[in-house]
Amino acid sequence: MSITILAIESSCDDTAAAVLKDGYILSSVIANQEVHKKYGGVVPELASRAHQQNIIPVVEVALQNAQMKTGDIDAIAFTRGPGLLGSLLVGTSFAKAFALARNIPMVEVHHLQAHILVHFIKEAVKKDFPSFPFLCLLVSGGHSQIVLVKDYLDMEIVGQTIDDAAGEAFDKSAKLLNLPYPGGPFIDKLAKEGDSSKFSFSKPRLKNLDYSFSGLKTSFLYFLRDELKKDEDFIEKNKADLAASLQKTIIDILMDKLILASEKYGIDQIALAGGVSANSGLRDALNAEASKRNWKAFIPAFSLTTDNAAMIAITAYYKYMKKDFADQSIAPKARMEF
Ligand code: KG4
Ligand code: ZN
Repeated sequence: MSITILAIESSCDDTAAAVLKDGYILSSVIANQEVHKKYGGVVPELASRAHQQNIIPVVEVALQNAQMKTGDIDAIAFTRGPGLLGSLLVGTSFAKAFALARNIPMVEVHHLQAHILVHFIKEAVKKDFPSFPFLCLLVSGGHSQIVLVKDYLDMEIVGQTIDDAAGEAFDKSAKLLNLPYPGGPFIDKLAKEGDSSKFSFSKPRLKNLDYSFSGLKTSFLYFLRDELKKDEDFIEKNKADLAASLQKTIIDILMDKLILASEKYGIDQIALAGGVSANSGLRDALNAEASKRNWKAFIPAFSLTTDNAAMIAITAYYKYMKKDFADQSIAPKARMEF
């Protein structure tokens, strides 16, 4: 049986649509929302308005690129949550209308499960697929968690941040260095030219598998404030070293708990997912640890690290197989358990 799914992702500030046939991506289109840049963060009201403007053209281009017509689609998938309610509402409403008009099933998808299941998109993953169970470090702008993945749709969070996410640590620190929003990719780029041992910042001392990044942000802020008192050009003179040192601290914090989780659960298949998994330092650190510890590392293609609709489509594919369909009464959820 061949299944073609059209998927929509609209949980934050990217409007995305993708067409997936039997686990292969036929098209994946993302419209980024430039409007937030000047505010240094996502403005929820503006995000939902931009989703409303973008959604139809984005779906049209996704269908065109896949050389599909609306009549070729077997199911429509959408992100139900977690995310910004007004943004989620746009994708959910579109999916409901599409399902009603075409008389096809609708599949609701959990955004974080979807980030993890990119590892099962067929042509996007060059190596083998992970086998169950595996551990996934899911790091994005809103989340930092270690997930024990027992099956496609059976996942358990075994550690998570008690305050800021890793992506926020990158973005808020980048702001202090006067870098544009979101700052993660700028820190990554600068870090390549810097000395990561030049400065050191405090690391949290949490005993279990949980993370904390708010202390690092504060220590970075106070450090810069003190240095700027002595030399007002301190940031400009040391930008690359600051970026490299900060990035190394974030990666060390992430990797320490990942190693602990691997030991605790006796699992040596380790995957990365989420926007921060685009970070080259984190990718290198996982590969280095994998060679040292004989882990099998799974690192997603760059195009599948940040928010996209192909990840929604692959998740919907496994739900479709189980006939796990949503009905017209479904509502989006800003917060959502696994
Ligand atoms: O998964 P994502 O696109 O959206 C959320 O669900 O949050 O993740 C966005 C986050 C932002 O914080 C961004 O700065 C970060 O991913 N990010 C990076 C890199 N590329 C994106 N952080 C560090 N290095 C990168 N290369
Ligand atoms: Zn995301």
